[in-house]
Amino acid sequence: MNYKIAVGSDHAGFKLKERVKSFLFNLSVEVLDLGCFSDESCDYPDYGEAVALVVKENKAKFGIIICGTGIGISISANKIPGIRAALCTSPKMAELARLHNDANILALGSRIIDENEAEVIIRTFLATEFEGGRHLKRLNKIKLIEEKNLC
Ligand code: RB5
Repeated sequence: MNYKIAVGSDHAGFKLKERVKSFLFNLSVEVLDLGCFSDESCDYPDYGEAVALVVKENKAKFGIIICGTGIGISISANKIPGIRAALCTSPKMAELARLHNDANILALGSRIIDENEAEVIIRTFLATEFEGGRHLKRLNKIKLIEEKNLC
């Protein structure tokens, strides 16, 4: 696959992020690792924001973000306009996140899924295209929410 993926995690997701980097390497995807770089305690909003900004600026096609549950880091990434970060715990969710939501960031919880599940979820996410059609109208409504609520 000829594109770049930005990855980021907090300390809880660090080990899984390292595994994810090797899956991506095997898929010949170029990886941009925005940290963290050890399992020393750190704060998930810093990494959710960093990955989201790179995806928003089209410096990576997708992002993969990981914290303990995937919740905190996905909430953080979703604060950036244009970002649709989907927390997925199954391949079905990953498929629907791409088909219906055109998710541009996949969020994973290292304390919720194991690395084998993560690999299948990632493969599914990357292999699935947005369906468009009626779903596009809904994404446009999300855009309007962002525009109405700019600070
Ligand atoms: C860190 O202990 C943990 O709170 C964080 O990784 C995440 O699960 C937050 O949503």
